[in-house]
Amino acid sequence: MIELCLAIETSCDDTSVALVAGDGEVRGLISANQDLAHEPFGGIVPEIACRNHSVHLLPLIQDLFQKAQVDWSEVHGIAVTNRPGLVGSLIVGVVTAKTLAQTKSLPMIGVNHLEGHVVAPFLRDAQYQPSFDLSVPMVGLAVSGGHTSLYRIQGFSSYQILGATLDDAAGEAFDKFGKMLGLGFPGGARVDQWAQKGDPTAFELPRSMIRENNCLMSFSGLKASAQRLVESLGPEKIQAQRADLCASFQSAVVDVLVAKMNRAIEVTGYQHAILTGGVSANSGLRERAQSWAQKKGVQLLIPPLRYCTDNAAMIGYAGILRLKNGEHHGLDLAPSPNSWAADFTEASNV
Ligand code: KG4
Ligand code: ZN
Repeated sequence: MIELCLAIETSCDDTSVALVAGDGEVRGLISANQDLAHEPFGGIVPEIACRNHSVHLLPLIQDLFQKAQVDWSEVHGIAVTNRPGLVGSLIVGVVTAKTLAQTKSLPMIGVNHLEGHVVAPFLRDAQYQPSFDLSVPMVGLAVSGGHTSLYRIQGFSSYQILGATLDDAAGEAFDKFGKMLGLGFPGGARVDQWAQKGDPTAFELPRSMIRENNCLMSFSGLKASAQRLVESLGPEKIQAQRADLCASFQSAVVDVLVAKMNRAIEVTGYQHAILTGGVSANSGLRERAQSWAQKKGVQLLIPPLRYCTDNAAMIGYAGILRLKNGEHHGLDLAPSPNSWAADFTEASNV
């Protein structure tokens, strides 16, 4: 019986480890954030990311077992993100997982990071219980730093891509805009904070593809317009109108995301939806998506903030569901920068 799983997430710049039970209960979660190491470079430096993973990972696992008061004898499997991501970062997690699986004689499974984001709203802990489960047909919008995709989800492991961004991910656009305003890296959460004090109608910015009858998105035009606007204002006005700039930018991104989620609900006829990934931590998006769902009669699940951004708990849940399904990988499991072809299928005519 597979009842508890150790999970490792090192696909980008967060080192995260978790212990997750078969029903999605998070028994422990510890993460080490590398923002300070990358901030001076204005973006993630892959070489620095993997070096830090190699320093943090094993001490974090030790800490996790100690804090959760769990013994290795209670662990029945190991889940590790092996795709998609920065290969150097993935290698650290994958090699560690293989070594632990071999020495502890445990089954191991490589997990797609995006599948982790899809199951994140269904994690549970003492403060959070999801209002529906993974068995109902639903629309999923995963919005992160590297991906912005809409899925038709027909139960665990059945994911069809309804549409995705044609260029930048929404999180990437937030981060680049934050950088333009001198807010540091990553800028998403800081843009969110400033936006809460600003007027979203102060500046007009484009909502690309919003009226197109499909689930495709684009954020590069918004980024370019924002760049021109910021350059035309100059440093003094930028500082004086920072809150209005952030609110206007955020509102443009949120309008597109909510409109496309609405489109996906209309195409599928489903009544359930999830919103997940780092950008689902955005306060404006959470609020607008909730009020859209209420008006539309859609049951919407958004994970608590601790499960929105990258974390190993979501990898543990996806992994334990697959292990329980009899799946596992061998010691030849490879890290991959991309998803595997079988992970997601393309939906047609949407
Ligand atoms: O899912 P995630 O942690 O990592 C990836 O898989 O990419 O997402 C990170 C992204 C970053 O672009 C970050 O700026 C953005 O999520 N983000 C936010 C907020 N919190 C994190 N964007 C807007 N508002 C936020 N509050
Ligand atoms: Zn992620």
